[in-house]
Amino acid sequence: MNKYILVTGGAGYIGSHTVVALQKQGFIPVIADDFRNANPVVLEGLRHILGHETIVHRVDICDKPAMEALFEKYAFTGVIHFAAYKAVGESVQKPLAYYQNNLVGLLNILALIEAFEVQNFVFSSSCTVYGEPQGAKEVSEATPKQLPESPYGYTKWMGEQIIADFHRSAPQLKLMNLRYFNPVGAHPSARIGEFPIGKPNNLLPFVTQTAIGKQAHLTVFGNDYPTRDGSCIRDYIHVMDLAEAHVAALTYLMNQNEGLLEAVNIGTGEGTSVLEIVKAFERITGQPLPHVLGPRRAGDVIEIYANATKGQELLGWKARLSIDDAIKDAWAWENYLATL
Ligand code: WQD
Repeated sequence: MNKYILVTGGAGYIGSHTVVALQKQGFIPVIADDFRNANPVVLEGLRHILGHETIVHRVDICDKPAMEALFEKYAFTGVIHFAAYKAVGESVQKPLAYYQNNLVGLLNILALIEAFEVQNFVFSSSCTVYGEPQGAKEVSEATPKQLPESPYGYTKWMGEQIIADFHRSAPQLKLMNLRYFNPVGAHPSARIGEFPIGKPNNLLPFVTQTAIGKQAHLTVFGNDYPTRDGSCIRDYIHVMDLAEAHVAALTYLMNQNEGLLEAVNIGTGEGTSVLEIVKAFERITGQPLPHVLGPRRAGDVIEIYANATKGQELLGWKARLSIDDAIKDAWAWENYLATL
């Protein structure tokens, strides 16, 4: 069995950190990315961290013939599928682009996995498949999936449905949905990190861009929610923990002899509010963070965080890094970007 692993969207935020984790585990990651949501600076960073070039193919996953050529060339042992649009707020403004890119891309990859009998597949899913938790805000993989609150969430919800139907038609393949909570932070080298194109949609990059002066102030989208301090609560997980979870998932799949389909929450098990993130940032960096209280954002869930037990029991994986680590690493990355 060869060590080639296809990483679609591998020049992106989570993809690039997973490339580092895969390489460290002895795999040979092959990046397929059209760089619509990634910056070539990331490739410099990967070279610095890994000490050599990563295999990169500039290709759109919706271009099936181009993707087929990669499957022919590398006979992949596994595929980790990241390539997708992923901003909840943006998806409310651009639903058709989200459905086109996220669903057609997934369908192409699954068709090629079937055609080339690639045994191991990991899908970048999301806690947004749980929608707004109706009961406990701590969700496990057994928590019933609600209808999502945004088109982005629907592309993940439908993606998991497509994979479930695909599994029934190809039961010999080993498939895993990793349901991420909120990825934050950067590699401790500060040479790769989140590289938003234009104004950031996500909280922590907006915080660091505000602190460094790229944004005038942070707007807290709502402080009148029924939570401990009125702002939304999320499970923020360090991107390096998230990257390690993909290696654990792939290794698990490769060690199984039978086909399977599993979903696993990838979160810390702790909830943190928007205002708590702001206060933690100011405490850790000593930087005041200009912020204002604004209206709620369409598509937002009020409160959700992971029950992360299954990841530990099935994959032997557990988040090790803290919110403080993530904020420190995100701030170091923002400062590195300012030197470019
Ligand atoms: C978090 C909180 C905002 C920006 C993310 C990813 C998505 C998926 C789920 C993996 C919300 C508030 C934000 C700002 C703010 N993850 N906020 N001011 O919406 O939970 O979705 O996790 O698949 O890919 O996008 O993350 O960082 O956008 O928002 O007050 O300027 O921060 O309202 O309460 P979200 P987010």
